[in-house]
Amino acid sequence: ADAMVTRVGCIGAGYVGGPTCAVIALKCPDIRVTVCDMNPTRIGQWNSDKLPVFEPGLDEIVQKCRGVNLFFTTDVVATIQESEVLFISVNTPTKTYGHGKGRAANLKYVESVAREIAKVARGNKIVVEKSTVPVKSAQSIADILKANRNSQNKFQVLSNPEFLAEGTAIEDLLNPDRILIGGEDSPDGWKAIETLSSVYKRWIPADRIITMNTWSSELSKLVANAFLAQRISAINAVSAVCEATGADVGQVALAVGKDSRIGPRFLQASVGFGGSCFQKDILNLVYICESLNLPEVAEFWLNVVSINDYQKQRFAKRIVNCLFNTVSGKRIAIMGFAFKKNTGDTRESAAIYVSAHLLEEGARLAVYDPKVEADQVTRDLNNVTGTPDVVRDQVEVCSDPYEAARGAHALVICTEWDVFQTLDYARIFAGMPKPAYVFDGRKILDHEKLTKIGFEVETIGKRV
Ligand code: NAD
Ligand code: UGA
Repeated sequence: ADAMVTRVGCIGAGYVGGPTCAVIALKCPDIRVTVCDMNPTRIGQWNSDKLPVFEPGLDEIVQKCRGVNLFFTTDVVATIQESEVLFISVNTPTKTYGHGKGRAANLKYVESVAREIAKVARGNKIVVEKSTVPVKSAQSIADILKANRNSQNKFQVLSNPEFLAEGTAIEDLLNPDRILIGGEDSPDGWKAIETLSSVYKRWIPADRIITMNTWSSELSKLVANAFLAQRISAINAVSAVCEATGADVGQVALAVGKDSRIGPRFLQASVGFGGSCFQKDILNLVYICESLNLPEVAEFWLNVVSINDYQKQRFAKRIVNCLFNTVSGKRIAIMGFAFKKNTGDTRESAAIYVSAHLLEEGARLAVYDPKVEADQVTRDLNNVTGTPDVVRDQVEVCSDPYEAARGAHALVICTEWDVFQTLDYARIFAGMPKPAYVFDGRKILDHEKLTKIGFEVETIGKRV
């Protein structure tokens, strides 16, 4: 009975903290769940009708629980003080300065949260590291808590990495493949693991909750992402072979994936993976390997990122080549800007890279994405090109796919949004200069049908 939790808090109301806490609140009506963030705009959005994160199913859950047992606040101190279990789900981006620049994870947000907890906490707390962090980070958190605690407080630090994917976050949270909890191998550690498990057990079968030592848990998260990304780079590397030989990467993936030891998922060749985590987490793993003096291992994982860069570059160059080696002054429609469908998130999206390449070649871009706001597109392109005047003069963000396509020499499919499969391509074709090109970076369109309409079609891993 002493494992009963009544108050859960979370620091960091982003793509992970918000949806995760919404689902905990939904599944545990008797637990009061508070999510806090130092960014008042974000909290304002969580408390409004337009949430800062688009995820299918999220709105309904927030509407149901908010103000009942789910609260969003900027009051970090109160959240820390009132919570028995405290999730840390702040961002851990790649360092952009100093030692480990471009590779290591920047842990300043995690550390500042640990210091804040140490400063204001009263009584015993279970601190749960949900952010993705390098191995041994829980030790740093525990050291900070220990060095600063007053004698009444006791802390246990657990590792509980999150495996949700954007676009399917709610589904993944409601029905996860596994919940992973790492903790200290001691009676206090086991008790803390038991307490956190008791929350998840409210809706997740016990056999899907796996527990292990803290360092295995932290490393498992990085390795899971590295394995997933590695599959994409493997099939993308094969796509280049297919284009050069007349094999079809879709058929190869089908044949290979039928082997039950390999499995069919995550073998979809593409313009390259994006998202805030794959590249960041692999570089983090690479940095750890380098720090441990394991250069061969570092090199192995680094190649997953290199092939991804190669894939994005290859695709962007092919567009220019096909358009008679010049896109200067030509209008090109960028269809989809998010890093995958069903999200408005653009972090590390392949579309950003492809757009930047085309801008550099002088193209005029018409960008359409069903969920990405115009100023987000502008911000991303400004950041990556460093030339806001070029972005201002050469990029138009359209609110309608037909408008983006009108007058374009080419359509470039960067995101696999379902709506792109059902557009009236005959109508689009009629409004484009000829030859009219489609570059399908996601392999989602009916290429035969497009060819019949008159399009020149180019795609990944297959000659059309
Ligand atoms: P995010 O940037 O969307 O959200 C992080 C939030 O933390 C921000 O709103 C920021 O304002 C807040 N924050 C930072 N420092 C703070 C502090 N000291 N006090 C209060 N708030 C603070 O990030 P995210 O995408 O939710 O990712 C969070 C972590 O989860 C990362 O480590 C990431 O690797 C990991 N992760 C992300 C995903 C994903 O799909 N996005 C999936 C699994 C794991
Ligand atoms: C990924 C993992 O799938 C999650 O398990 C993990 O929790 C998360 O990273 C994280 O740590 O942040 P996410 O990046 O949200 O989730 O989305 P994915 O579905 O993994 O897609 C990542 C990228 O790979 C997207 O650009 C997607 O289009 C691309 N992809 C995916 C392919 O190109 N081919 C595929 O077969 C699968």
